[in-house]
This record gives sequence, C-alpha cells and structure tokens, in this order.
Amino acid sequence: ALERTFSIIKPDAVAKNVIGAIYNRFETAGLRIVASKMVHLSQEQAEGFYAEHKARPFFNALVSFMISGPVMVQVLEGENAVLKNREIMGATNPAEALAGTLRADYAASIDENAVHGSDAAASAAREIAYFFTEAELCARTR
Ligand code: CMP
Repeated sequence: ALERTFSIIKPDAVAKNVIGAIYNRFETAGLRIVASKMVHLSQEQAEGFYAEHKARPFFNALVSFMISGPVMVQVLEGENAVLKNREIMGATNPAEALAGTLRADYAASIDENAVHGSDAAASAAREIAYFFTEAELCARTR
C-alpha cells in the first residue's frame, strides 16, 4: 500500500555532510520526499519526540545527542514506506546493520546512528504530525 513514514537525518550525519547521499538512497529505493526541513531541536522538542523512551537508561544521552546540532526531518512516501525505510536504514545498532544500509555506511555507534525512521504506521502518523502540518505534506501534481 502507498504509505508515508517519518525520517530524521541525525546530527552526526548532518555534520558528516551526507544529507544528499542519504536522500539519494531514499529516492533510488523508490521513496519520494514529500516534506523536508532542517531544524535544531530544543531539549523540549527532543524529549517530547522520544517520550516513549523516557524510562530507558539511554534517554538523557539520546536527548543530548539529538540537540547537539541541526537535523533534517522529512516525510517519505511510497509503497510500504515504513518497512522500506527500515530496510534502507539497517539495524539500530550499526554493528548489526547489513552491508549497504545507511547505518552500516554512516553510523558510528548505537547512540550516534545517523538516521531515525518510524517503526510502524501508527508511530509514523504521530511523528509526522509532531513536525509537519497536513498542509506541509506536498501531493504530487505531475
Ligand atoms: P532511534 O530509532 O532514533 O530511536 C531511539 C534511539 O535511541 C535509537 O534510534 C538509538 O540511536 C538510541 N539508543 C541508544 N541505546 C539504545 C538501545 N539499547 N536500544 C534502542 N535504542 C537505543
């Protein structure tokens, strides 16, 4: 089914200057960017986005990392976009990520792992709405 998913290029990958390389992976795999912006998250924004992880031991390090520099946030659209983006990203821990995935190629550790992607349709809807209004999601006209 045609789906949308939410993606973040994290501060480590923005610092490495690989935004275009990562967008190329999405497009080559058949995903379309239908909304995109660069943002430097506030602590409150990062804590709210990752609220489900609040009780985890890595929460504070995660928030500190996510506010350490600008990120790119984008909405990707395509057939089975949620699963397809997860395949493009590879495993959360780059040590376990398959060759040719974004995490294998660009991530240094499980904490600084280059990209985030929604894990399911429901989280995609929530995460998209956290950063974009419905009017900011651009439908194709040609
Ligand atoms: P992300 O998909 O952005 O969601 C939460 C992030 O927490 C995850 O990617 C990792 O970068 C980070 N993280 C750090 N330690 C862990 C862990 N043990 N399990 C899951 N995520 C972790």
